[in-house]
Amino acid sequence: MSKEYSIAVIAGDGIGPEVVRQGLRVLEHVAAREGFRIRTSLYPFGAEHYLETKEIFPDGAFGEVRQHDAILLGAIGDPRIEVGLLEFGIIAKLRFELDLYVNLRPVKLYAEHLCPLKDKAPEDVDFIVVRENTEDAYAGIRGFFKKGTPDEVASQEIIFTRKGVERVIRYAFELARRRDRAKKLTLVDKANAVRAMDLWTRVFEEVGREYPDIARDHAYIDAACMWCVKNPEWFDTVVTSNMFGDILTDLAAMIQGGLGIAASGNIHPGRVSLFEPIHGSAPKYTGKNVANPLATVMAVSMMLDYLGESRAAGLIEDTVAALLRSKRIPSLGSDSGLSTSGIGDLVLEALEQKAPA
Ligand SMILES: NC(=O)c1ccc[n+]([C@@H]2O[C@H](COP(=O)([O-])OP(=O)(O)OC[C@H]3O[C@@H](n4cnc5c(N)ncnc54)[C@H](O)[C@@H]3O)[C@@H](O)[C@H]2O)c1
Repeated sequence: MSKEYSIAVIAGDGIGPEVVRQGLRVLEHVAAREGFRIRTSLYPFGAEHYLETKEIFPDGAFGEVRQHDAILLGAIGDPRIEVGLLEFGIIAKLRFELDLYVNLRPVKLYAEHLCPLKDKAPEDVDFIVVRENTEDAYAGIRGFFKKGTPDEVASQEIIFTRKGVERVIRYAFELARRRDRAKKLTLVDKANAVRAMDLWTRVFEEVGREYPDIARDHAYIDAACMWCVKNPEWFDTVVTSNMFGDILTDLAAMIQGGLGIAASGNIHPGRVSLFEPIHGSAPKYTGKNVANPLATVMAVSMMLDYLGESRAAGLIEDTVAALLRSKRIPSLGSDSGLSTSGIGDLVLEALEQKAPA
């Protein structure tokens, strides 16, 4: 009996359903080819569902979603709905309640012409960011005092816990070892100004002593942004807090060619985890069949790798890389001259042409 994986799919809003459709085509193709089965359950949550029913993500459905082997998410967010309502109610709920404490963001340039930086080639842009995914200002401890008056005070707490910092740093050291590249882990923080980050400094040193084979490196977030543009080749594995990781990884997406290729995993090792493109719902492109689905295709590749199907994951990555290198997919934005479904067709054709291993 072949292996079967159950995947909960939340296509979401805007371009989400269009890009997820292409991701699922690729998933089904590689499953058939590699001899495993995929059982998908589609969940309708997002703006349309909310407008029709006033439901965001009911507990019953949440309970079902968490029973799957993995979750594939398109994008959440719609200009018709209060800012953050669905993003918090769906994405943050999944990240926090499933305790998906690692946000994993590979930053890999597949073809030189996609990089906006001068004289940088694929070997210069190949690092991975481990972003803490459950704490920091995103924990939601906030408040307003005298809201709407000239005396208003708004506050939001940045929180770091010893447990939260230690587990993500340990994950990053293990990853740097597994990657077996430069064997270097860079801690990115702002401990000089945000003194609560002294916890990160201390834990990094303590845990790092258990990994003598991994070189310990450090950059403040402002400098890290500068190095990301000037010398991306200095990074191998990076570990950082939730907010700095959020910002740094969008910058990093640009040096790998754009949001159209950038994928992420929201992971709790050994438990149900969530994979998604890092881009949002890009409302202006909704229903136009112009969004690039490759970030979702790469999220599918990451999901398969997580599930232990590393050959299928590698097959997808190699196929996408070859299509980009050959310029059959010439760019990663909406300006490639190809439609969303047309890019899906190209990926499937290229997969079909690859001789089975
Ligand atoms: N994880 C998520 O679901 C997620 C992430 C970020 C933003 N959002 C939400 O998405 C909505 C829109 O946010 P935004 O405009 O700041 O960010 P966005 O990522 O949706 O879009 C920014 C711009 O990037 C380009 N772009 C993004 N994805 C693309 C693709 N696949 N192909 C081609 N071009 C692409 C478009 O020019 C787009 O206007 C908001 O409601 C926001 O809260 C959701």
